Amino acid sequence: MNTPHRSVLYQEIIHALHPVTGGRYVDGTLGAGGHARGIMEASAPDGQLLGLDVDPQALAIARRSLAPYEHRIHLVQASYASLSDQLARLGWDAVDGILLDLGASSMQFDTPERGFSFLQDAPLDMRFGPGMERTAADLVNRYSERELADLIYQYGEERDSRKIARAIVKARPLHTTRELASVIESVSPRRGDRIHPATRTFQALRIAVNEELSSIETVLPQAIEALKPGGRLAVISFHSLEDRIVKDFLREQSRDLVNPPYEQIYEVERRATLKEVNRKPILPSDDEIRDNPRARSAKLRIAQKT
Ligand SMILES: C[S@@+](CC[C@H](N)C(=O)[O-])C[C@H]1O[C@@H](n2cnc3c(N)ncnc32)[C@H](O)[C@@H]1O
Repeated sequence: MNTPHRSVLYQEIIHALHPVTGGRYVDGTLGAGGHARGIMEASAPDGQLLGLDVDPQALAIARRSLAPYEHRIHLVQASYASLSDQLARLGWDAVDGILLDLGASSMQFDTPERGFSFLQDAPLDMRFGPGMERTAADLVNRYSERELADLIYQYGEERDSRKIARAIVKARPLHTTRELASVIESVSPRRGDRIHPATRTFQALRIAVNEELSSIETVLPQAIEALKPGGRLAVISFHSLEDRIVKDFLREQSRDLVNPPYEQIYEVERRATLKEVNRKPILPSDDEIRDNPRARSAKLRIAQKT
């Protein structure tokens, strides 16, 4: 790979999508282009890829690392939530495989000025791309105490959400990651070797700023619609909120919908649209986690269009 950022579950993704010569693929979360490169190599000489990312910096890096394949790659700065529109624009009516490697990239985490990390002082931004309307500072400084507490509880699964929201409202305006982290530390101190007390609040803000959960809910039905029969969808999630949406959707779409439910005589309203390739998610190996700690919480789910 041309990049210092390792793609999580790389072999597993290439195995799951099983790219073939002449196939058409979508990478909805291009990042540095690591998985995309594997797809291009495996689908040589004429497989094609539509690569999306909302982050212009990621696209610029991916464009460089994917230069050898540029004649069969289409790179677009857009959200995967607009998948159907992007495919229509290309004139592709069906594709062989779709990858979503959700969340932020290590490149984004490791760029202090993007504001994702509380370990470095930077403006409270946290936008994946310039298209997002609100920064983390906007939410922190404008939401009511109640709204902040709900957000931190729902998207951060943080038990101390009320205490943290109260402290934020008292201390604001807050402009930087360190300012916010110290407010959180003051009311929610470190407990034993648990994660840093600001971790969950930062996750919650990032999810809200980038409308992460609603984007996933929006793209999944479009992905099924776009796949050819036998085509595969592979989704890597990094926290339980994302994974729950993906898991519930794949389960629901893998069952026939019958009416009335639970009766012996029923009509089939909708046939299952997907088959889950693995009932349990695929997790990174211990070796991968040792080499790339970011992989620690990754879960891969794969489904095949019926
Ligand atoms: C985990 S990284 C992907 C890494 C990539 N698979 C690789 O191999 O380098 C996730 C990427 O998805 C992008 N992203 C997040 N939300 C998005 C959305 N709604 N639409 C498109 N891209 C998004 C982020 O900007 C980030 O670059």
